[in-house]
Amino acid sequence: MDRVILVLSADHHAGHALGLLSPYTLLTSPTDEPYKPNLCATQQYLWEDCWTSPLEEIRRWAGRSPIHILLGGDLGQGNKHKDEWVRQTTFADQAKIIQANLEPLFTRRLEAIEIAIGTGAHNFGKGGLEVTARDLVAQAHPKVHIDISYHSRSNIHGCLVDMAHHGPWPGSRQWLEGNAARYYLRDAMMRDHNVLGKEPSKIYFRAHYHYKVCERVGQMLGGKIYESWLIEVPSLCGLGDYAHRATRSAPFIINGICAIEVIDGEPRFPPRWFTKTMDIRSERSYP
Ligand SMILES: [Fe+2]
Ligand SMILES: [Fe+2]
Repeated sequence: MDRVILVLSADHHAGHALGLLSPYTLLTSPTDEPYKPNLCATQQYLWEDCWTSPLEEIRRWAGRSPIHILLGGDLGQGNKHKDEWVRQTTFADQAKIIQANLEPLFTRRLEAIEIAIGTGAHNFGKGGLEVTARDLVAQAHPKVHIDISYHSRSNIHGCLVDMAHHGPWPGSRQWLEGNAARYYLRDAMMRDHNVLGKEPSKIYFRAHYHYKVCERVGQMLGGKIYESWLIEVPSLCGLGDYAHRATRSAPFIINGICAIEVIDGEPRFPPRWFTKTMDIRSERSYP
């Protein structure tokens, strides 16, 4: 029996005042003084409850099986929304924070890390920040495969995974959630089969919306029924000014990661979600 555990995560937004920040990050000031940035309560929650504790649990679950990491982009905050930075983080700072954030992934069972390039606004354009962070991580761990591209199609132990940062809108109302994802997924499967002459992937992994989506589509193509899943993972970042506006004042936020067991090339669904939902409203009562 061949078993591998896929770990899916995205939107860490390193450099954002509420983004993922390793407490072991060591930055250098412009006067060449090393310092460790302080974590706020949200960042401690993200680091411990939404990132390192789930990774520890996944490691136990994986046992002797390899762990394959898929990172769906926006690993840094970039320079478009500077007002939301931790202090005044530079390009170099953000690359170092990403490197420190990825350090807990390096265990004996790690097989590979694949990275999708995220939104240009969050990587200083053209994937610059994510490519630089990948190079830093690869230099520190030369024996591990760490691959990066905008859009990938990987055969992971017989399971085809299509990964890119931008995907379908999760849905503007709770009762509409997943509708756009299913249309998108059916289209992706048909494009793979009918336009590109390829077998549809089993998993289409997307990110960007900082929300949790898991949808399945069965589609007849060329006389054969294919079944594929679309997964979008929530972020490891809190809600800043921009996100409050973009979500039109969402009352809660979901953070965390996702893991999928693949046995003999077949992904086992539903996936295991290591996510937490937090009500972000200030509760008050008078008198
Ligand atoms: Fe993002
Ligand atoms: Fe994005």
